[in-house]
Amino acid sequence: MRYGLLTAAFAASVAFTTASHATELEVTHWWTSGGEAAGVAEFARAFEEAGHTWIDGAIAGGGPTARSVFVSRLLGGDPMGATQFNHGRQAEELVEAGLFRDLTEIAEEDGWRDIVNPPSLLDGCTLDGRIYCAPINIHSWQWLWLSNQAFEDAGVDVPTNWDEFVEAAPALREAGKVPLALGSQSWQAAGLFQVLMVGLGGPDVFNQVYGDKDAEFSAGEEVARVFAAADDAREMSRGSNAVEWQQATNLVISGDAGGQIMGDWAQGDFQAAGLVAGDDYSCLPGLGVHDVIATGGDAFYFPVLDDAEKSDAQLELARIMLSPETQVAFNLKKGSLPVRGDVDLEAANDCMKKGLEILAAGNTVPAVEQVLSQDTVTQINDLMTEFFNSEMTAEDAQAQFATIISQAD
Ligand code: BGC
Repeated sequence: MRYGLLTAAFAASVAFTTASHATELEVTHWWTSGGEAAGVAEFARAFEEAGHTWIDGAIAGGGPTARSVFVSRLLGGDPMGATQFNHGRQAEELVEAGLFRDLTEIAEEDGWRDIVNPPSLLDGCTLDGRIYCAPINIHSWQWLWLSNQAFEDAGVDVPTNWDEFVEAAPALREAGKVPLALGSQSWQAAGLFQVLMVGLGGPDVFNQVYGDKDAEFSAGEEVARVFAAADDAREMSRGSNAVEWQQATNLVISGDAGGQIMGDWAQGDFQAAGLVAGDDYSCLPGLGVHDVIATGGDAFYFPVLDDAEKSDAQLELARIMLSPETQVAFNLKKGSLPVRGDVDLEAANDCMKKGLEILAAGNTVPAVEQVLSQDTVTQINDLMTEFFNSEMTAEDAQAQFATIISQAD
């Protein structure tokens, strides 16, 4: 996508009034699905309305693939103008290496500490008291998305919680559906597992495992129940035949699968496909068991550049991304929640409203990438890929998981 070409004529006619320096900035991210592309187009539009040119650097293949491209470009001396990461610890080493700009000054001028909600989002951008990224949304993983059509075809009620979903699985199979759609990339299996942990176990269990990194507890009975559910999920996901998350989401959109456990970015795709929350699909935050969401999400980092004009444009982009108008336009399309509590989300759909209510009630946990190092996250991802693609017993998987937690940093 090159939004610059689309709007070049218009930008040229207003360049004198909207900005003194029209600057090209390459912005890298991993947003390539229908809902994601609709969201990023809102950022591009707002940046171009300010008289600049957005050079779109979308990388296909999902977050881990894209992040390895970003890292090798940054370490190889080929920085982009701005880049997405999940806020938290993902970009910690790059910040420590001095590759990203310190945004503290504009964050203070614009009062980010007062407007960003919850404050943990800004903490995820902060190292030694300095702010290195602009948080732009809250994305939560803790959702079960259900196709109303698939359940109708199978002659069973749309489930209201995880146990009912598991009970409905044989009827879905009978009707030729995959009960639980799951893509084959490792982060998806691990994400699903982590949702079982907090959805079924509850926030205390989640915090004791991931926050306290309590290995003994991770090897115990309460976590064993989560592994038993992962065993059910493995069985229910057989035959998904999807690689990327959006391929699995498409199975739910078409009614070929009963449901998918996936982050709330999936609803950007339901929306882009013209489906209506409540009518065509249902959503169960916290798997209908514990109403809880994690407050992870996306943030933009701005590499240090030896170019005064681009450096100015970087700060302008950070401000645009956090402006009330852009926050509303972007998040409504993307399916995420805004990082500002002071914006009007009247237009939010039913599922998004549920997320906003849970957030307002303070029923939140940190995202896994906020509390674990990237290395530990990768070890859990690898274990879950192996578990979901083999006959490994739930007991063996739990023992290996507890060992990872015992060494986690
Ligand atoms: C990001 C989302 C994105 C999702 C799938 C997550 O890590 O936070 O913005 O939609 O990956 O690509």
